[in-house]
Amino acid sequence: MKINPQDFIAMKGSKPIPMLTAYTCPIARSIEKAEVPVILVGDTVGMVEMGFDSTRDVTIEHMEYHIGAVRRGAKKTHIIGDLPYGTDVDPGTAFTNAQRLIQAGADSVKLEGPNIQVIQYLVKHNIPVVGHTGLLPQTAMNFKQVGQSSEDAKRIIKEAQAIENAGAFMVVLEHIPYSLAGEITEYLSIPTIGIGAGPDCDGQVLVINDALGLGDYWPPFSKQYAYVSKTVLKVANEFSEEVESMKFPSNIIQLTGTNRS
Ligand code: KIV
Repeated sequence: MKINPQDFIAMKGSKPIPMLTAYTCPIARSIEKAEVPVILVGDTVGMVEMGFDSTRDVTIEHMEYHIGAVRRGAKKTHIIGDLPYGTDVDPGTAFTNAQRLIQAGADSVKLEGPNIQVIQYLVKHNIPVVGHTGLLPQTAMNFKQVGQSSEDAKRIIKEAQAIENAGAFMVVLEHIPYSLAGEITEYLSIPTIGIGAGPDCDGQVLVINDALGLGDYWPPFSKQYAYVSKTVLKVANEFSEEVESMKFPSNIIQLTGTNRS
């Protein structure tokens, strides 16, 4: 059964919330089979799948395409769709774009920063919103940890409070000191989902390519549960070698006992 925003709020403090990103149908299907309760179709797709240097290159059309693919693979899982850079500049623009993501298959939308009027407007118009504070990749100059000075920490606490007060049902805390994430988690009534924010959040999100070891760079706060890039290299090498030595496709014919004509 699909988990709704109120269920996520009820999980706070009682059940840690796992969240994975997904961008494609077969990956989403596996994540749903594993009963991960929530998938984020993040604008990280631009960097980890599309080869852009920044998430700022991602468009609303890219997000619609990937959300549609993920929904076809995970029909019963709550899907959060990321509003990409420049698509939430004012309440009206954000509403039009959020509706596009919902129509593509998302159950809620995520937006970066203390964009309070936009969050209030979307929630008022029945679009569930996930906030995002700490490191904000759409506008950051680099990917270093933020919130180390007491001034910056206070700003992030205020932003998290404002995001909750505006009506968001969940907030992502990205790359901030663990103690700060713990403080925010204790203070808020909505679940916090950490990425590079330590163990005291209500849940954790990982970019699926980082978890799979797919790509050639993974942030230090991520974990590689596999090294899929190595497997792809091995398969490509073996296939290429078998075609050149004319082993393939004769070897599948021998294996299956048919020429599949
Ligand atoms: O776009 C994304 O995948 C994200 C995660 C890093 C939280 O925002």
